Amino acid sequence: MEQTFVMIKPDGVQRNLVGEIVGRLEKKGLKLCALKMIQVSRDLAEEHYAEHREKPFFDELVGFITSGPAVAMIWEGLGAVQVVRRMMGSTNPQEAASGTIRGDYALFMGNNVVHGSDSLESASREITLFFQPEELITYTKALDLWVNG
Ligand code: RTP
Ligand code: MG
Repeated sequence: MEQTFVMIKPDGVQRNLVGEIVGRLEKKGLKLCALKMIQVSRDLAEEHYAEHREKPFFDELVGFITSGPAVAMIWEGLGAVQVVRRMMGSTNPQEAASGTIRGDYALFMGNNVVHGSDSLESASREITLFFQPEELITYTKALDLWVNG
């Protein structure tokens, strides 16, 4: 089953949005496979956002993501990568649709509450970057059949 990496960014933790975001993903029917609170190091942040290394906002982005604790998670389900991206909404929260996480809870591009992998390849890379294999839990949920058809 498809898995994606999701991180509640430091602003989401500070603004008491952890439960809200986890709750939305749970209620959608996605399955939580790993979760931990982390303090992202500078090295990890630079590796995670390596694709943006040359962008003018790179230093600000790394500074922000390392500014406080974050919550790292792996969520599993049918089409999980794109489903989570749609639930997050556009990168710029001012343009994100109402009903999405960023559309409902953020205003500023730099503080957009949540990260989700943007492709299957990114998901695989980010899961490996943030988690050890033994931190992923494989289990059956009684509702799996109802959710996944
Ligand atoms: P993320 O990686 O954090 O989930 O966000 P994303 O895929 O929606 O957007 P991405 O293009 O990967 O950008 C990563 C983060 O960099 C900040 N950003 N600032 N000032 C700018 O033009 C700009 N563009 C991007 C955002 O905080 C974005 O989440
Ligand atoms: Mg991105």
